Amino acid sequence: MIQKCLFPVAGYGTRFLPATKSTPKEMLPVVNKPLLQYGVEEALEAGMSNCAFVTGRGKRAIADHFDISYELEHQISGTSKEKYLEGIRNVIENGVFTMVRQREMKGLGHAILTGEPLIGDQAFGVLLADDMCINQGGAGVLAQMSELYNQFRCSIVAVMEVPEDQISAYGVISGEAMGDRLYRVDKMVEKPAPEDAPSNLAVIGRYILTPDIFDIIRDTPPGRNGEVQITDALQTQANKGCVLAYKFEGQRFDCGSVPGFVEATNFVYENLY
Ligand code: G1P
Repeated sequence: MIQKCLFPVAGYGTRFLPATKSTPKEMLPVVNKPLLQYGVEEALEAGMSNCAFVTGRGKRAIADHFDISYELEHQISGTSKEKYLEGIRNVIENGVFTMVRQREMKGLGHAILTGEPLIGDQAFGVLLADDMCINQGGAGVLAQMSELYNQFRCSIVAVMEVPEDQISAYGVISGEAMGDRLYRVDKMVEKPAPEDAPSNLAVIGRYILTPDIFDIIRDTPPGRNGEVQITDALQTQANKGCVLAYKFEGQRFDCGSVPGFVEATNFVYENLY
């Protein structure tokens, strides 16, 4: 059973300036809940009660959000407003939250390696909060992947089909189909030009990684955009036949972009609020 989930949350959120000037982008609300809380709830639902945040400067609000606010508790306790605190109280009670700071932004691979002291020698989930995933009425994406991990015991990436003109925004895989929704990955390319993309299957921000990934990242040179890419490290694992790609069940919203964020907001307001 996977117990830990790593959340790389050190990014600047430039696309949301000025909103993100002094507020972490992960704390922007989708209706009434910060984006990151959706991700944390998905991890908790998957049994990953230990949430490891790789943060950076200016991200203190994240640590405060996943802690008790005594003043607020004191003000609201016993009043009709108490119901508004229930959701976050549950999250705080059911999770353990740890953090480490990434001092320099050197890519997603580097962020994951920075989290190594919080993870140790065990398989773990990775959740990119920008990718908000909702599977109404069914298990969340990390829970789906965790179940697969228990069966196959290797790294797993979540994938979805994307149109050709969007493929260069993603890590892209190709592989042999092993069933309805599962592929054994043979190739992974970070943000390829459409003509170089090995398929239309794009990686979205959900991963299960086996702990040997840390040594592999250490040996992975900077790739696309001069950054250490998790995609390149996973290619090394895939060369040994140890990476699966899973076409998840549910909907994904690209909350790293303004239109995706608005779409998620409308969806949550209409369906979940
Ligand atoms: C990262 C990964 C990329 C993946 C994407 C999913 O890119 O590097 O492989 O497809 O997340 O959202 P980013 O969006 O951080 O540029």
